[in-house]
Amino acid sequence: MTDHVRIENTAGILTLTLARPDKKNALTDVMYGKLADTIESAEFDPSARVLLIRGEGDMFTAGNDVGEFAAVATGKSEGSRNVIRFIQSLARCTRPLVAAVQGRAVGVGTTMLLHCDLVVLADNAQLSTPFVSLALVPEAASSLLMPMRIGHARAYEMFALGETVPAKTALEWGLANRVVPLDKLDAEATALATRLAKQPAGALTATKRLMRNGDALVAQMTAEGEQFAKRLRTAEAREAFMAFAERRAPDFTKVA
Ligand code: COA
Repeated sequence: MTDHVRIENTAGILTLTLARPDKKNALTDVMYGKLADTIESAEFDPSARVLLIRGEGDMFTAGNDVGEFAAVATGKSEGSRNVIRFIQSLARCTRPLVAAVQGRAVGVGTTMLLHCDLVVLADNAQLSTPFVSLALVPEAASSLLMPMRIGHARAYEMFALGETVPAKTALEWGLANRVVPLDKLDAEATALATRLAKQPAGALTATKRLMRNGDALVAQMTAEGEQFAKRLRTAEAREAFMAFAERRAPDFTKVA
């Protein structure tokens, strides 16, 4: 069985490629597990000087696998434990994290970018965090990081109304470092990662530690996780996931 995540190390750049393009790189428990293992072990691997996250196909990622959410909502599964390891590994990662994003980045596809140090968007990138539309709450410390980054008003609209933010706007709001034509995306992200890989690793690590407080981020993730786990088991959430499976709009007005 493939785990749908490809790992390559070239010239100090450890590339993590989401490789489930037929499902728009929707993230499963197995994929989170491989991502978490890779990010955690990179901390002890001097040859991994920079981490680069990218997605195969026309989209960065459609976010968490909705089928796996639905299994929890209907009591058929206890849920993913690896997702917690994955988001915590992002919060604690001391290596520079670079992301290359094309097409849609939904849910955790966008919230993981808040943990990346350099974000390159293709001109067709679209960021969205439709947690409330799925009867859920923001995760990956995004309830803290998103308002800090773009201001409360914009963050609330992204979370509560699921507004999609196009690449150019994301750049203006400080969610990204560059917007490039789609066919230049990989080259630009690799060029930036290569520059970082040549910088002194100790100074990069110390700078990142000064700029990001891993403990505070993990504490926020824990608070979010409690709400998320509760919301996942509500009638609202069951309606959201059933609607996705049935390819229809959810009707929350009928849910008590
Ligand atoms: N989980 C599981 N499967 C997903 C998925 C997800 N998050 N997103 C897409 N897929 C699957 C679709 O079910 C479809 O599978 P099928 O070919 O077996 O029917 C396949 O990927 C292609 O998706 P499709 O919806 O046909 O592509 P699209 O280009 O029309 O739309 C999206 C892309 C991302 C807009 C749409 O798939 C979508 O809204 N996905 C859900 C996003 C989401 O809510 N994520 C959770 C965030 S917390």
